Amino acid sequence: MTRDERQAALELIANEVRACTACRLAEGRTRAVPGEGDPDTEVVLVGEGPGFNEDREGRPFIGRAGALLVRMLASIGWQREDVFITNVVKCRPPDNRDPQPDEIAACAPFLRRQLEVLDPSVVVTLGRYSMGTFMPGARIGQAHGTTMPADPATGARDALVFAMYHPAAALRTQALEQVSFEDIARVPAVLITSRERRAAHAEAGEPAATPNDADAPAPAPAIATSHVPAPAAQPAKASASSLPVESPAASADDASQLTLF
Ligand code: URA
Repeated sequence: MTRDERQAALELIANEVRACTACRLAEGRTRAVPGEGDPDTEVVLVGEGPGFNEDREGRPFIGRAGALLVRMLASIGWQREDVFITNVVKCRPPDNRDPQPDEIAACAPFLRRQLEVLDPSVVVTLGRYSMGTFMPGARIGQAHGTTMPADPATGARDALVFAMYHPAAALRTQALEQVSFEDIARVPAVLITSRERRAAHAEAGEPAATPNDADAPAPAPAIATSHVPAPAAQPAKASASSLPVESPAASADDASQLTLF
């Protein structure tokens, strides 16, 4: 798929989200929030659901939690425009309550289709509800900062999932803010590892990993891959991404940066 084709496919999904009445959240919304970002990105961030500001503007993570998220991305040299940001539910739950299982289920096809189009290398989950979609049964206190292969049934056909606390939780607790900065600092290494896995799968003509042999999240960045079975081969994403990633071996002031493909 070309960038334009991805963009068009994402816009089609976004228009369906804006017209959706599949669950009760549609009744209370001002605007649906489909998500936004670089259609060629390798990294998708998945939050919980729109809050007050997002509901008014139709854009994800534009309030205080979003400002913290932008600071966290900046700490690894990335901008929000470099990634794609979306949520498990696309309409604001009343009074910012937690999304309910039937609401998450009703919205799940949109997220799955977005991931199919984006074919990311890394999915970063923000908070418990997002983590629950990609790491069923995991507990955030243990799973944050860890990674595991995505189940291709999520739409992410050959990705690593990396779990983080929700930025709103980090806003409430200084200790969680520090942990969140430490966690996000691992994401570039996870991206490098995922790229290597994808290249190996492509070279071997292998399918992407299925996660069933990796039920327990593994600590990042030590990712067990050798025993991961593979599904049907997919063409590798050909488009270039602009996310800068320092080699893990490079020192902080080393100018050598990897350009992502
Ligand atoms: N919190 C979320 O989970 N998503 C948003 O878009 C904003 C706040």
